Amino acid sequence: MDLTLSIQQRQIRRMARQFAKTELAPIAKEIDEEGRFPWEAVEKMGALNFFGMQAPRRYGGAELDSISYCLVIEEISRLCASMGLMLAVHNSVVVFPLNQFGSDEQKAKFLPPLASGEKIGAFCLTEPNAGSDAMAIESTAIRDGDSYIVNANKIFVTNGGVADTLIVFVSVNPEDVKKGFSAILVERGTPGFEVGLLENNCGMRANPVTSIVLTDCRVPRTNLLGREGDGFKVAMAALDTGRIGIAAQAVGIAQGALDVSLKYAKERIQFRVPLARHQAIQMMLADMGTMVEAARLLTLKAAHVRDQGGDLSGPSAMAKLFAGRTASKVASMGVQIHGGYGYSKDYPIERYFRDARVTEIYEGTNEIQQIVIARELLKGGED
Ligand code: CAA
Repeated sequence: MDLTLSIQQRQIRRMARQFAKTELAPIAKEIDEEGRFPWEAVEKMGALNFFGMQAPRRYGGAELDSISYCLVIEEISRLCASMGLMLAVHNSVVVFPLNQFGSDEQKAKFLPPLASGEKIGAFCLTEPNAGSDAMAIESTAIRDGDSYIVNANKIFVTNGGVADTLIVFVSVNPEDVKKGFSAILVERGTPGFEVGLLENNCGMRANPVTSIVLTDCRVPRTNLLGREGDGFKVAMAALDTGRIGIAAQAVGIAQGALDVSLKYAKERIQFRVPLARHQAIQMMLADMGTMVEAARLLTLKAAHVRDQGGDLSGPSAMAKLFAGRTASKVASMGVQIHGGYGYSKDYPIERYFRDARVTEIYEGTNEIQQIVIARELLKGGED
């Protein structure tokens, strides 16, 4: 694997870094405190093609490689994790499966407004009784002429409050959920579509994570993504890709936590010298920097495997597991370096600390990643 970024990849990273600095850094604290979705910044991200990073050009996308995609998610998350999450979910668990499994008609209809950012996507898998056990869903889609009648209660839907195009996992066969497990595209505004409770989450507070309730929603049969019974594979393929995006997000949060800790360590005087002169603090900073770099390498490795068309499950699970743990650990060490101020909302490190934690939970908990990794290791033969 060549570790050198191409000129184009470096340009894309610079552009995302600049955007995050000028448009997101000034509002990150306020939108977190107010739980506000920053439409003004979102429109600008649309103009930069951040919503269609890997979509085909003919649908308005930028056709970026996965490494470039990770660099953008990292830079955005470094200054505003809520927006990094919004983009990661939209691009990798909505636009990607739609492009991969959608019919030509579905792509022509749904991809252009998603790629431009005119419409925002959401991925609806989790339910009150189905989280890590994704197969336990109770949502249904029952055939009725040219339509399905969809009934679903989905929770923890990232982008839920602002999403227009949702991939909803249901079973078309309530007697045999596995056999009937299917993915269906549902549009906001369909009669029976309701945005439910806004989650009062600990972090990522500028992302409107909600429940989505569908009651006798009539959805055209042409909205089925793939065939009836293909839904679990669609979900797993989306998550294999999505986990790379979450890993990139975790790397961005960890890097952001390190950035503010380095700054603080140089400014804060204790025992007549800056904190940075104390070896105890230097050791923490050294460990933080090393962990961030290792997480970044695993993430870019998974992105590279994806670009080469390799088997993604193991590499993406490893990247997400390690990067999520890194984000939590590095942010926690950052709080420690800040001392009492680290526990105050006056300093950004507490936001990194809150935002980091969920990267160990969503798109598969650490324990689910460990299951996936162990399965991959155990099925491998000897060289
Ligand atoms: N790609 C393609 N197919 C796959 C696959 C993959 N990565 N993983 C499994 N499959 C296939 C299997 O081959 C199997 O196919 P057959 O029936 O034809 O043999 C089928 O799917 C069932 O597989 P398993 O028997 O392995 O299924 P399982 O019930 O044991 O589950 C699991 C496996 C890995 C634990 C899976 O349930 C899982 O990933 N759970 C976590 C779900 C998750 O990440 N949820 C997060 C939701 S999204 C979110 O967080 C919200 C957000 O908006 C960010």
